[in-house]
Order: sequence, then C-alpha cells, then structure tokens
Amino acid sequence: MADKKNIVMSGIRPTGFLHLGNYFGAVKNYVRMQEEFECYFMVADLHSLTTHPDTKELKLNVQRVLSENIACGLDPEKVALYCQSHIYETSELYLYLNMLAYKGELEKTVTFKDKVRQHPDNVNAGLLTYPVLQTADIILHRATFVPVGKDQEQHLEMARNFANRFNHRYGEVFPEPQAFNYGSELVKVPSLDGGGKMSKSENQMATLYLSDDDELIRKKVMKAKTDAGPTEPNSVKPDYIENIFLLMKLVSSEDVVKKFEDDYNNCSIRYGDMKKQLAEDMVRFIAPVREKAEAIRNDEKYLKDVMEKGAEKARKSARATMTLVREVMGLNYFAP
Ligand code: TRP
Repeated sequence: MADKKNIVMSGIRPTGFLHLGNYFGAVKNYVRMQEEFECYFMVADLHSLTTHPDTKELKLNVQRVLSENIACGLDPEKVALYCQSHIYETSELYLYLNMLAYKGELEKTVTFKDKVRQHPDNVNAGLLTYPVLQTADIILHRATFVPVGKDQEQHLEMARNFANRFNHRYGEVFPEPQAFNYGSELVKVPSLDGGGKMSKSENQMATLYLSDDDELIRKKVMKAKTDAGPTEPNSVKPDYIENIFLLMKLVSSEDVVKKFEDDYNNCSIRYGDMKKQLAEDMVRFIAPVREKAEAIRNDEKYLKDVMEKGAEKARKSARATMTLVREVMGLNYFAP
C-alpha cells in the first residue's frame, strides 16, 4: 500500500516548452512520486500574471503544459492535476499570509531582485509577494514534500517561515514544507553546446525540447561540439565530450554507451557515428512523447475533464484546510 502520510505539492509555470532538462530534472520525479504519495500538481497560471499580464496565450500555454506533463507519464487519475486559478481558496489564504509577510524580507528575495532587473517598468506588488502566493499553493494542502530544483530553495525557506509564523500567531495548522527529490536521481542534463545545463533561456539550438520534430532533434545533436578525438588511451574527457556521454546515458542502451566508452578509451572513437547514434536514440525517446502530447492538446474535451477532476480533488483538500484556518484565526463568527 502506498505511503499516504506525506503530501506532495508542486507548481509548474505555464511559460516555455518542456525540454529534456525539465523531464529528467522534474517531471520524472513527479511520475515516480505519484506512485508513493498523495500528490497535488498545479499549473501556476496566476503566478505567470506577475510577469506576463497579457493573457491572450494563457489558455494555450496551460493546455500545452498539461498535455506535455501527461504525455511524460503524469496520471490525472493518480494525482490532482489542476489549474491554480480554479482554486479560489488559494487567493484567500494568500491574503491572510500577506499580513504575515514583511516588505523587507520580500525585497531581499533573489528571484524578486532578478525580476526587477529584467522588468524595471513592471515591478508590481504581485511580483513582490510571489513567494507568499507560492506558500499558499503549498500549505493549502498541508504538503510536506515539494519537488523543486535548487532555484526554488529560497522560496521554500520563506514558505516555512510564513507557515511557522501563522502557526505561532493563530494556532498549529501547517506542517513545514521541504524541498524533495530522489537524491541521486536528480540528474544534470547538459546542454549541447558544451556549456552548462539545458535551459530554455539559453541557446535554443543547444536545448532539446519534447516538442522538437525528428529532423530538428537530429540537427541539434549533430551540431554538438566535438574534436579530433583522444590521442592517448584512457584520457580524461573534455567537458563537451563528457556531456555527449551524459546525454547518451539518459536515452541509449548500456551496450551502446559501453561501446563508445571503449572506443574512446582505445582512441578509435568516431564522434560522427556517436552523434548519429545519439540522435536516433533521442528521436526514439522524444518522438512518442511529442506525439502523445500533440494528441492530448488537440483533445479539448479530455483536457477540460482533467482540469475539472483535478480542481475537484484540490478543492476538497483546500476547503478542509481553510475551514481550520478560519477557525484558528477567529473568523468563523457564526460558530456556536
Ligand atoms: N515558483 C515555481 C517556479 O518558478 C512555480 C511554483 C508556483 C511552485 N507555485 C508552486 C513550485 C508551489 C512549487 C510549489 O518554478
């Protein structure tokens, strides 16, 4: 029987397309967690308003994010997969938490300072209180595990502070949420240009998206940087070569990886062949996900059902929490 003691919550921003780094760094963990915990996975459409006030493309982006995550294996039957804006209780909790969040600490948040630099003409209060809304998302379900990357650690620390402050002021309602991942499972997915991690803001040609078509995948992989090959047996690999091996380990069979490791170590490696092999294995990995996501995205009725069912599950948990919140805050004036 699955362990239902820990509640998991995470939010996915509906900006940008899913890439291989998102898949191995985040979605794969969600898919594993759904078998073990009670999970709430949410599309953070309200958060996106802090930086993207134009809502023309929001619906499409929300549908795409849902489709891509489902195509990767997230099962709407097993988890609550929902839209942030469908759960009004979030906004209520956000309001209460705002009275416990101080301007000084919010202004010190690294992500806030970054956004101020990026959008100096749109420094709105929603941006400042972004971590408060994120806290509301999490503690609304009294979640303890939050699968997120390193960049969200400060937000999680703030969430613990706000939750504790609430508990001290009004009464124990919220457990402390903490960042969660399966340790060694958090693999680094290197970009194809020998640089850092695969990411959507960096070089588009160095990032493999789950929506890339076969030809584009091949083109991107074939462009990856290599050199003339090692001249000494068993030499240390340069970063950009190590990266190609890392990518291969994610999608190719062990035999294939071993063959190229051996070729490298005895200096007979042909990088052209290696990249061709990697390209084909990448295509085999990405194509079914892309096709599945496309099919889901075109099925509006199915997506509507998913969102409705997800919202229903999330609301149930949200309502139970908010009843407690109003009670300990003394806002239930009509209680006997
Ligand atoms: N801030 C997160 C991000 O930028 C998205 C997010 C919104 C989130 N609400 C959340 C993550 C709740 C975890 C829990 O990726």
